[in-house]
Amino acid sequence: MNQTPKRYTVTAALIYANGPIHIGHLAGCYLPSDIYVRHLRSCGEDVLFVSGTDEHGVPITLRARKEGLTPQQVVDKYYDIINRSFKEFGVEFDIYSRTSRKAHHDFSSAFFKTLYDKKVFTEETTEQYFDEEAGQFLADRYIVGTCPNCSNPNAYGDQCEKCGTSLSPDELIAPHSTLSGSKPIKKPTKNWFLPLDQLQPKLQAYIDSHQEWKANVFGQCQSWLKAGLHPRAMTRDLDWGVKVPVEGADGKVLYVWFDAPIGYITASKEWFEDPATRNTLSYGGAPRSASWEDYWKKDDTKLVHFIGKDNIVFHCLIFPAMLMVHGNYILPDNVPANEFLNLESNKISTSRNWAIWLHEYLEEMPGKQDELRYVLTATAPETGDGDFTWADYEARVNNELAAVFSNFVHRTMVLTHKNYAGKVPAATRYTKEDVLVLEEITKFPDRISTAIRNYRFREAQQEMMNLARLGNKYLSDNEPWKNPEPERVKTVLNVSLQICTNLSVLCEPFLPFTSAKLLSMLNISSLSWNQAQNTSNLPEGHQLNEPVMLFAKVDKALLQKQMDKLESIKKVQAAEAEQAQLAAQPAKALEPQKETTTFDDFSKMDIRIGTILAAEKMPKSDKLLKLTVDTGIDQRTVLSGIAKYFTPEEVVGKQVTILVNLAPRKMMGIESNGMILMAENDKGELSFVAPTKDNVNNGSTVK
Ligand code: MF3
Ligand code: ZN
Repeated sequence: MNQTPKRYTVTAALIYANGPIHIGHLAGCYLPSDIYVRHLRSCGEDVLFVSGTDEHGVPITLRARKEGLTPQQVVDKYYDIINRSFKEFGVEFDIYSRTSRKAHHDFSSAFFKTLYDKKVFTEETTEQYFDEEAGQFLADRYIVGTCPNCSNPNAYGDQCEKCGTSLSPDELIAPHSTLSGSKPIKKPTKNWFLPLDQLQPKLQAYIDSHQEWKANVFGQCQSWLKAGLHPRAMTRDLDWGVKVPVEGADGKVLYVWFDAPIGYITASKEWFEDPATRNTLSYGGAPRSASWEDYWKKDDTKLVHFIGKDNIVFHCLIFPAMLMVHGNYILPDNVPANEFLNLESNKISTSRNWAIWLHEYLEEMPGKQDELRYVLTATAPETGDGDFTWADYEARVNNELAAVFSNFVHRTMVLTHKNYAGKVPAATRYTKEDVLVLEEITKFPDRISTAIRNYRFREAQQEMMNLARLGNKYLSDNEPWKNPEPERVKTVLNVSLQICTNLSVLCEPFLPFTSAKLLSMLNISSLSWNQAQNTSNLPEGHQLNEPVMLFAKVDKALLQKQMDKLESIKKVQAAEAEQAQLAAQPAKALEPQKETTTFDDFSKMDIRIGTILAAEKMPKSDKLLKLTVDTGIDQRTVLSGIAKYFTPEEVVGKQVTILVNLAPRKMMGIESNGMILMAENDKGELSFVAPTKDNVNNGSTVK
């Protein structure tokens, strides 16, 4: 779009309702979109901000199997958790919808029907993998195999998560079913395909017209186009999803990536048609257009999709292709996808539980929303992968939020209360330095706005902090607490209070809870973005409220708890990895039967039942235990090589089988008289061989 937009439609990815939200999701698209929208609204723009949960697709049904729930129960459970945690975290959508709602089934089904009637789809019967044991076709994540690109043995039928390549089940090497583990057969089935190959020239022109997109997004699109697009099935043989609304499609549903992005449109429509679905925003409203169609069909609307990088192809090529062939819709104007956020240098992973879950953070660190918002924006993976660490969290909160932002506001407020009973003092005479500072202040709104509107949120937040830094330095340089000149003190505090006021506007997109506290301290209602260019928003004599501390240093004990939590997850992971490794080790081949022996030879061995009376570790040996054994005929010392598998405490009192007439042997200066018989499994682990009844007394013979 080349004109100035009249309105904005902003979407944030519809996350699968198969698990809670973690910090990676927040940094990836939810925080940036919330910041963007808050800023636009502060500028008085007309914005519709929609999101919700993606409740179809294999990820949901697989989760249901894992948790022993129905797909509906799974999505109900996670919708609630996700919806609640977004609200508490101050990510404020106009509507947080769900694709399982009837409104969405109706709307996405009609969208499909329109394309079907326009003969957009090609109908093809192809051989698809089928699990005979489960009696089901294996689409997408129901099938795993080795990635042809990077050899990852756990690549899914739709994508390899290791190298990011998008796949089809046919490309997998040695595929097997995730339902039964069995090797699937091929069976013919009919599906409807979107001819992306035919649409390629139009899509190429569309992408080429968006050189301004982020390099990672633009680059990924070009490489897809270069590889050549193929027709893609828009239906699946599954029973969970939106039913395919055409004849001969029993047992088929829409491909989840067909229905999900349409969910953005459904949500917009719901907002207009069903006011009960609307969220009440905690911040100022803005003008709204008359209908949902204004937000999706008018050329003067700017449509922006916030997503994570794994969603790029779907939002930049497939969804636009769907919108193009439909014909009535505008196309995305920008798709500012972020890269991934790591946690303590490791990839965030739901399956390995390597994550900081938002709902847990909110519970364990109550009232600290803005701390997390700040740190995540500061480390946001905008141009490359980012890394979240608790040490960095502590440093940023202590050195930036507490030492600069909070400290500046607090000193200003406290001094004004102390000197002027909380009434804004007049600025009587500006020094040359004051004039420079005042001039500098006026530049921040534009600078921050430009960064936000160009999706550079880290930079924008840094600029906002620079205003706090400017204030903090101004205050420290002028030292109003020890200046004997009352007129000078008044001026310095007036200027500082004006900075506090402007900060309340400019910090709002990033730190909404702090902005609200600041407004209430300043005893004003929120100002518009442009007003933050003024340096006289607070009139002389205006009564301020009592100061409250905006940020304190991070509570060491709370932080330690969070770090300990990650440590304990690491331990579980290590134990699981060890288990997996052991399980993967080929079992030791069983020893072949030994040469034939005679009964006479066997009878020469005097084997008895005994009880271990005492045990101790042999000094300087990690193998041997020194045992005192009651053999029924005597009590004797036996050295046994079992220290790796048993502690002395656990063997005392055990009944064992002992070869008592073995020739004595001296080891490490101690004579061993006999040998305890042990069974050894294929992993080399030892177990005692003992009577299975408790009426076998010591000294009983084994024959
Ligand atoms: N459910 C997808 C995910 O979590 C995102 C879907 S975005 C939408 O990765 F466009 F399809 F809605
Ligand atoms: Zn791969």
